[in-house]
Amino acid sequence: MSRYPAYRPRRLRRTEALRRLVRETRVVAEQLVQPLFVVPGRGVERPIDSMPGIAQQSVDRIADEGRRLADVGVPAVLLFGVPERKDARGSGATDPDGIVPRALRALREAAPSLVLMTDVCLCEYTDHGHCGIVRDGDVDNDPTLDLLAAEALAHARAGADLVAPSDMMDGRVGAIRRALDGAGFAHLPIMAYAAKFASAFYGPFRDAAESTPQFGDRRSYQMDPPNAEEALREVKLDIDEGADIVMVKPALPYLDIVRRVKDEFGYPVAAYHVSGEYAMVKAAAARGWLDERRVVDESLTAIRRAGADVIITYFAKDVARDLGRR
Ligand code: PBG
Repeated sequence: MSRYPAYRPRRLRRTEALRRLVRETRVVAEQLVQPLFVVPGRGVERPIDSMPGIAQQSVDRIADEGRRLADVGVPAVLLFGVPERKDARGSGATDPDGIVPRALRALREAAPSLVLMTDVCLCEYTDHGHCGIVRDGDVDNDPTLDLLAAEALAHARAGADLVAPSDMMDGRVGAIRRALDGAGFAHLPIMAYAAKFASAFYGPFRDAAESTPQFGDRRSYQMDPPNAEEALREVKLDIDEGADIVMVKPALPYLDIVRRVKDEFGYPVAAYHVSGEYAMVKAAAARGWLDERRVVDESLTAIRRAGADVIITYFAKDVARDLGRR
């Protein structure tokens, strides 16, 4: 090993140009994904109180937003739909003319180059707010798989470029893969929310997606936060069932998992920098307690350094815009 005084690490920290030259990790706009919340109506732009800068938008507004995102260099969006009506089976999720299929068609026309990703889950569509069919007070795994596969197929037929199941049912990646393959969508990739933890950081999202469980919580299907070995098993299952990108969620509190998944499988890894992570930064920045830009840059850099390729973040538009200005 090199020793002081022969080796002085400060030599390469002296100017910004030198620091840039040897920088190991970069955040690039090409790997950012902006989540969007689409709601019924026209001309609707409903800000989410707990997520300043983020709004629920109707299909026409989503199309405008898609255009703006493409203009600043965000390559991809992840769509969440809030339907007109909710019921016990979440039938809005499988409707070929549902809210997400309509948004997909509008986005495809408005911003043809955007990668259109869709969240595949039932919690926004069920009146009880759980991610599947409920029986005896818990989500019934196997009957839910058919609905998820039908939902993914509805999205594929409406022009999705990639589907992203977030429900955490066992076997859903395989069920979706089979449904897609059987309907002529063998080319469509799946980004699996593979290690998705039952996290308190999803709070603000549930306001945005109107998907708060009406009883109980999601701990019987989302992962227990202390478990890292199990996360690797979950990821392996999804890869074996046909996942093309595996996701860890949330991001910053779970960077150890991101690193282990990357090292263990070498697959494309996505990290979801979730609503609560966004809200904390926004709240502190609004009080002047944190420098938002620097905190966001440092956070996304940390997520990349841990091994993530794709970053899903509510800051995508702002960050891409800033990167474009540099
Ligand atoms: C739906 C879903 C959730 C998120 C993404 N997909 C919420 C949940 O599981 O309760 C959270 C995203 C965020 O907090 O930004 N199942």
